Formats: sequence, C-alpha cells, structure tokens
Amino acid sequence: QQYENILVELRGRVGLVTLNRPKALNALNQATMNEIVAAVSDMDADPAVGAVVITGSEKAFAAGADIKEMASKGYMEMYAADWFRAWENLTRLRIPVIAAVSGFALGGGCELAMMCDFIISGDNAKFGQPEINLGVIPGMGGSQRLTRAVGKAKAMDMILTGRFMDAEEAERAGLVSRVVPPDSVVEEALKAAEVIASKSKPVAMVAKEAVNAAFETGLSQGVLFERRIFHSLFATEDQKEGMAAFTEKRQPEFKHL
Ligand code: HXC
Repeated sequence: QQYENILVELRGRVGLVTLNRPKALNALNQATMNEIVAAVSDMDADPAVGAVVITGSEKAFAAGADIKEMASKGYMEMYAADWFRAWENLTRLRIPVIAAVSGFALGGGCELAMMCDFIISGDNAKFGQPEINLGVIPGMGGSQRLTRAVGKAKAMDMILTGRFMDAEEAERAGLVSRVVPPDSVVEEALKAAEVIASKSKPVAMVAKEAVNAAFETGLSQGVLFERRIFHSLFATEDQKEGMAAFTEKRQPEFKHL
C-alpha cells in the first residue's frame, strides 16, 4: 500500500511506522492519522508482525494536530465529523505498539504517544499539551491519559499552563519508560519491539489487554480478569512450549498458537 504522510517498513517481525511531514513538524492532519491507523491495523492483523514502533524525526515526533486544518472549522463540522474519533481505533488494536519519541511531542503528538503501549524517549524530547494557548483543550484523550500517567498535579500544571515537560521529568513522572540519546531512540525501540515480537503474539496481546484492564476496572475485578486469562493460556501450544523449553534449558520456539 502507498502512503503519502508516513513511511512503513517491516524489520523481521517488527513494523516501523515513521511520520513523514518534516515541513510541518509531523503535524497530524486527518490524512496522516488515517494512514497511521490503517498501517498499524494491517500489522495488527498480520501474524508475521509481532510488535510495532511509531516514530517521527529527531526534531519532532509530532507537533500536534494540524492547527491549519482545524483553524476555520465550526462546531457543527467538528461534531458532525466527530473529529478525532478515528484516532481511537489505535487504542483498540491488540498488537503491542511502542512510541519512539524525539523532539516535540505536543498536543495531539503527545496524545498519539500516550495511545501507544509505552514510550521510549530521546533526552531531547519535549512533551506538552499546549492547547490552552490556542483557545482549546486536549481533544484526543490528553486530559485523561496524561492524568493517569503522571497524576493530577503535573497533568493540571501542564494542561493549564501549557508548559512542556522534558525527558528527564517525563521519566521521573512515569510518562516514559526509558530515556536514551536522540540518535538511538529508534534503535532502542526497535530492539524492545524485537524482544516483544520474539514472544508468543497471542500471549503478548492478552498481556497488553490485562494491563489496560487496570485502567478500566476496580482491583478485584482486574485481578479476576487477569486470572481468567492466565488459566486460559494453558489451552495454548505456546504455554506448553514455553514451559517445556524452561525445563529442557533451551530457548522456546513459539508458534503463536
Ligand atoms: C500545523 C504546524 C504545527 C501544528 C508546527 N507547524 N506545528 N502546522 N499544526 N501543530 C508548522 C509551522 O507552522 C511551520 O510551518 C513549521 O511547522 C515549522 O514550525 P516552526 O514553528 O517554524 O518551528 P519552531 O520555531 O522550531 O517551533 C516548534 C514548535 C512550534 C514549538 C513545536 O511549531 C509550535 O508551537 N507548534 C504548535 C504546537 C502546538 O500548539 N501543538 C498543539 C496543537 S493543537 P511554516 O509553513 O510556517 O514554515 C492540538 C489539538 C489536540 O494538538 C486536539 C486533539 C488532537
């Protein structure tokens, strides 16, 4: 498939999606976001792909939703088109998705990164929800996901003042899982994705589902959900293989079954 705003490659069992609108600092217009969702959905459905990395450039992961595309819209246009609704499809995918962030991850860019399963950050990264400077608020889950990631104090601070958070603060606050030099962000994310893709894909998918359940359920329901999934995995060939490999002191060869 041909894309205009992103580059898509397959490295072994890892899919790499690179935002490619350098002149607009990878601002996310509808076309770009639709392409990202389409590309990652294809990978989700492809048994040959075990994990995905989404990245931008060293200067910008994405500087936000495309302000120029939105600026002149009216309420009914936004409402009738349910602007940004399609982006949610990204959060319904089952394949693990890593955001490899260098430079600016602002507004919709920060929200895109937070829709991924975890974020690996360059030490030059700047995260922010500066929508308040434009007379709006986050519109793709920023007020919810940032608050869950970093807590009320920092989320309020960032969303009300529009200030940026650097990579060090983002790691301290729990927004990102690792910080590395900007020129090795993609490599580090690809390595992590390769590790994930070497596991059983269906098991990685339910692991992701179980962690995500922590944000939607109470503790006892969440623990029960986990245990039911845990039990169900004993119906898989990959559980038999994983445990046999341990006993036989060899590497497992998962069949994704
Ligand atoms: C459209 C954008 C853009 C954006 C940058 N550009 N961000 N175009 N939408 N979000 C364009 C600029 O207009 C400019 O194009 C080119 O990219 C380079 O940007 P500069 O501003 O010249 O670069 P620099 O001086 O280095 O400043 C970088 C920056 C600044 C600090 C990131 O661009 C900036 O503040 N951008 C907007 C950040 C923001 O407010 N994001 C939130 C968007 S609202 P030209 O043609 O002039 O050279 C949002 C709503 C979320 O995301 C709702 C749900 C998604």
